[in-house]
Amino acid sequence: METAARTAPAAVIVGIDGPSGTGKSSTSKAVAAKLGLRYLDTGAQYRAITWWMLSNGIDVEDAAAVAAAAGKPEIVSGTDPSAPTITVDGADAAGPIRTQEVTSAVSAVSAVPEVRTRLTELQRSIAAAAPQGIVVEGRDIGTTVLPDADLKIFLTASPEARAARRNGELKGKNAQDPADLAATRAALVKRDAADSGRKTSPLAKAADAVEVDTTDLTLEQVVECVVTLVESRRSAAEGTEKRSA
Ligand code: DC
Repeated sequence: METAARTAPAAVIVGIDGPSGTGKSSTSKAVAAKLGLRYLDTGAQYRAITWWMLSNGIDVEDAAAVAAAAGKPEIVSGTDPSAPTITVDGADAAGPIRTQEVTSAVSAVSAVPEVRTRLTELQRSIAAAAPQGIVVEGRDIGTTVLPDADLKIFLTASPEARAARRNGELKGKNAQDPADLAATRAALVKRDAADSGRKTSPLAKAADAVEVDTTDLTLEQVVECVVTLVESRRSAAEGTEKRSA
């Protein structure tokens, strides 16, 4: 007779990459919440270090100055998908990291190799400490931070759809106004070009990532798609474990 209790599912690591406005954050949080996983927004960490540089008078265009200061701020990320948090030297940074000033400076700061090394180490240690597993969103998770992730997703969407979504998220922006949309689209395309063109771990799709074009999908459809992929990877892994036991 079978007496062994069913063991808890193994920890699962999911990396979700893609440019801004593709629905990465909403998707990653919802997938993590549905599957009981932790959630890490690595973009918030790059924004947090950028905010610290700006607040401390560091010229963000001076790569040597940014590199010299990269180790100074203490960045702490709370990984509950229903209430993620971020602090810098103990101060709540959730609001300040979303300002236009930070958004305009973040690509320059995140191109500096010392910044990337520091945050990559932090991200790996957070993922390693998540017992049930974690959904990590960013630009280089599948290629650099967690190349052994159980599932890698690369989200895309047309620049028009991304601009409309971003405007919908920003207070005071009108998702329907063509001039506002064009300005948001231009800013997104510029930031993507900087993120994709930098030398150190640029925004890129890993060879083994599953690409999901979200242009014509609702958030619920994208979440469903990713949850189904995670579950099928999990059962495939459990099957392999049973066969080799
Ligand atoms: O996801 P976001 O828009 O909040 O990210 C802000 C910036 O941080 C983005 O323009 C590029 C950078 N970033 C990065 O270089 N690597 C990551 N893993 C995540 C974000």
